[in-house]
Amino acid sequence: MRVRAPGKVNLFLTVGPPGGDGYHPLVSVFQALSLGEEVTARLPGEGAELRLTVEGLHADRVPTDESNLALRAARLLAEHAGVDAGAHLHVRKGVPVAGGMAGGSADAAATLVALDVLWDLGLSRTELADLGATLGADVPFTLLGQTAIGSGRGDVLTPVLAHGTFHWAMAVRSDGLSTPEVFAEFDAPGGRGPAADGTVAAGDGDRGPGALDAEPDPVLLQALRAGDAALLGQRLHNDLHGAALSLAPDLAEVFAVAQDGGALGAVLSGSGPTVAVLARDAAHARALGAVLLGEGVADDVLYATGPVPGARLLVDSAPGA
Ligand code: C5P
Repeated sequence: MRVRAPGKVNLFLTVGPPGGDGYHPLVSVFQALSLGEEVTARLPGEGAELRLTVEGLHADRVPTDESNLALRAARLLAEHAGVDAGAHLHVRKGVPVAGGMAGGSADAAATLVALDVLWDLGLSRTELADLGATLGADVPFTLLGQTAIGSGRGDVLTPVLAHGTFHWAMAVRSDGLSTPEVFAEFDAPGGRGPAADGTVAAGDGDRGPGALDAEPDPVLLQALRAGDAALLGQRLHNDLHGAALSLAPDLAEVFAVAQDGGALGAVLSGSGPTVAVLARDAAHARALGAVLLGEGVADDVLYATGPVPGARLLVDSAPGA
């Protein structure tokens, strides 16, 4: 079974104070991107072992021990369904590692979908999402795909209507940022407050630790409905911007070069350090990518469009195909 699951960009992210479990309540608008992960699952030749191999982008930085999200997803599903079948999982990475684009969550989502079919379990998407949410906050969104508002930890999802296709140049750094460290920096005294892009850091609507009374920017939602990339570019927002830039100050240059280069907008993806640069069309994205690389502010640039569907079985691998 071969399953593709998308990476994501947060078009909008507002973060509240952490609750007792350490997690931060958030309100986000996610868009699933054409940069994705592919997981192939096969029954093992003999025995019931779980085996994992990884290739592709930054593969050498992916842990292959028990902390790996694809393996954890497989173990969780086996335990939940009471199966002892084993599998060989092969992950082909297209999403930067530790880039704030949910690559690990996409591996978990793709693994759940692939093994559900391989092991003939017949679980619903809701059941898979509930299981996935215990592995990582972004797993339910990579299962759902398209464009959605996420609340709670980012795992309570409401689909959003979006027209057209948006074109992105994703400025990638070879050294990732740790999501827990960025959230810790956000919590540090002086770590909150207005984001560096001048917008007011949400949290204004806090109800106290673990709660966040916030709505996504209505103008941003209107831009998505209308397929208006120029308006969307003006309304991109991420509350973690200041925290990520205090850990990686030279990220500021990516934003400056994107703006000078005529981008419609730019936003830190999730907890970074990937910066998503919005373009008018595919050619404009390539031109912006060339400027980012030419100025030496990105280690790599990947091109993506969104929205795209969530984790899905590739047709040529479907049972009976
Ligand atoms: O759920 P996920 O594994 O993606 O989260 C990684 C870490 O990021 C968590 O352990 C937590 O420290 C932080 N996090 C958070 N609030 C969220 C999502 C993640 O504090 N809503």
